[in-house]
Amino acid sequence: MCGIVGFVGREEAAPILLDGLRRLEYRGYDSAGIAVFDPKDGLQMVKTKGRIQVLADHIAERGGLKGTIGLGHTRWATHGVPSDVNAHPHMSENGRIAVVHNGIIENYVEIKEFLQSQGVHFTSETDTEVVAQLLEYYYDGNILDTVTKVLHQIRGSYGLGVLCADCPDRLIAARKDSPLILGFGKGFHMIASDVTAVIKYTRDVCYLDDGEIAEITADQCWIYDSYLRPVEKEHHHVDWEISAAEKGGYEHFMLKEIMEQPKAIHATISPRIRDGQVVLDGLDYSEEYLWAMDKIYIIACGSSYHVGMAAKYVLEKYLRKPVEVALASEFRYSEPIVTDRTLALVISQSGETIDTLAALREAKRLGARILSIVNVMGSTIARESDDVLYTWAGPEIAVATTKAYSTQLAVVDLICLSFARKLGTISAEEHDTILAQLQSLPEKLEEVLEQREQIQYLASIYFNHSSVFFIGRNLDYAVGMEGSLKLKEISYLHSEAYAAGELKHGTISLIEQGTLVIALASYRPLFEKTMSNVVEVKSRGAKVLGLTTEPLRGEMEKVADQTITVPEVHPMLLPSLDVVPMQLFAYYVALMHGCDIDKPRNLAKSVTVE
Ligand code: M6R
Repeated sequence: MCGIVGFVGREEAAPILLDGLRRLEYRGYDSAGIAVFDPKDGLQMVKTKGRIQVLADHIAERGGLKGTIGLGHTRWATHGVPSDVNAHPHMSENGRIAVVHNGIIENYVEIKEFLQSQGVHFTSETDTEVVAQLLEYYYDGNILDTVTKVLHQIRGSYGLGVLCADCPDRLIAARKDSPLILGFGKGFHMIASDVTAVIKYTRDVCYLDDGEIAEITADQCWIYDSYLRPVEKEHHHVDWEISAAEKGGYEHFMLKEIMEQPKAIHATISPRIRDGQVVLDGLDYSEEYLWAMDKIYIIACGSSYHVGMAAKYVLEKYLRKPVEVALASEFRYSEPIVTDRTLALVISQSGETIDTLAALREAKRLGARILSIVNVMGSTIARESDDVLYTWAGPEIAVATTKAYSTQLAVVDLICLSFARKLGTISAEEHDTILAQLQSLPEKLEEVLEQREQIQYLASIYFNHSSVFFIGRNLDYAVGMEGSLKLKEISYLHSEAYAAGELKHGTISLIEQGTLVIALASYRPLFEKTMSNVVEVKSRGAKVLGLTTEPLRGEMEKVADQTITVPEVHPMLLPSLDVVPMQLFAYYVALMHGCDIDKPRNLAKSVTVE
């Protein structure tokens, strides 16, 4: 999704802005642009459709951009096609004010019509241009006051950066429902939609909250509420290394992140296990609270929703409490049954997904207690939750999530063990077995990752199939959903995940000679049931790639064309292992198709619009 970076200091701004934009590339974008104030020639802007390199080339062709203050933007089109003209920044008609914007201005049509009736000419199809033009329309010599006035007139979501040629020593930033951070350095300040854009320059950051407006110069920073009353903000130190957001010798971030899973799971689990017990970061979930809890409502999107699907099986089995899993985009517009005894478990890697955030707010409004599982420190979902459990996966750059998904699963396992122990719904013996196996999960994952070449070989056999079905039951079904999403999002192959027993209620009609079926049958209690479904598709001509545990290899090999195995672990932990061959399979298929693996078409890392 769109990215913002802004700089004001004493060094040339353009190279810093370009570097920041490159670090935001992973979010997904279709065009990019930069505006810099040149003391000699005023506001200068270069913007273009396509990659940052194209923008850099254009800037180089015109001999660079001079100036120590500027704004940069990567655009992911919502209103208006990807084009040079629709790329940000957008300028007011007289070239005095430049604006970059993430989010959507919902009442842009009415504002545009009003401004047009006043004689203002628009050049782009975007909603953002109305902000630049409205700023110019109301401009009274004080850009901070003018921005504040305009913010009271626009509806929708925004992370906003404004540069006015009349006061070229300062940037104005504002946020509502779209993340924006400030970076503090010696002799410079930055704004960005994401810490990755500033981390090379500073680790000292502050997260703006909804309704806040910031004014930054090279040496000073003021933060206000929406009525320009001063606000005191806490600074945060970003403690991950910049190398964590670099490829480190791998061809793609996705592969690097797949390979990092043992480390990420270890980092997520180990600080939370002490003396044979799970310690949930000091969170207070008393026995009384858990007994009174009427249900757990899991709210998430995409892969995080798939974690929720696996969590439902695990939590219902071990807590004996009803668990509902809702797609955040559906939850927010349904009439969910939530009480003050409901625990809303909100799962989000980015912590900024707008649907998930809106659903969180709705669940909170209805009285639920919010526990979130989030990867990005200080993100909005983390800050608006009653309690947060961070996944310590480190920055995840590839659009297709891998290590964040696995660490979310690990946190669900920890929650399950902790709650079940308190409720007395798990025996001490089973609790201890699972906990011990959870701790040895990183080694088991290494064993699965060693099969990388075999999975690459399997991908080379099957990469030309145009349609793929993933089938499984219970936890295997939940993992199949994730395997299917991984494949379609990065390789653009059509694929579907089905509960194996449901296939014969319609979808089996699509199985014909040579159709690829990936059969997940690692969940031992339902192994035979799933295998019956595998036989059904096999007898209709399907090619079957089976996934099971090592002890069941022989049984799978009797039916499947090829078999992948994972080490046998407690069933609750199987998804953490099963998902890895699915990730690798998708990765190698996409590689063989020559796809842009880390930045798949039309997708964004952090989905901050509805
Ligand atoms: O940041 P979130 O976990 O809230 O993101 C939710 C989905 O957009 C995300 O999981 C998406 O499905 C992934 N790109 C899938 O790999």
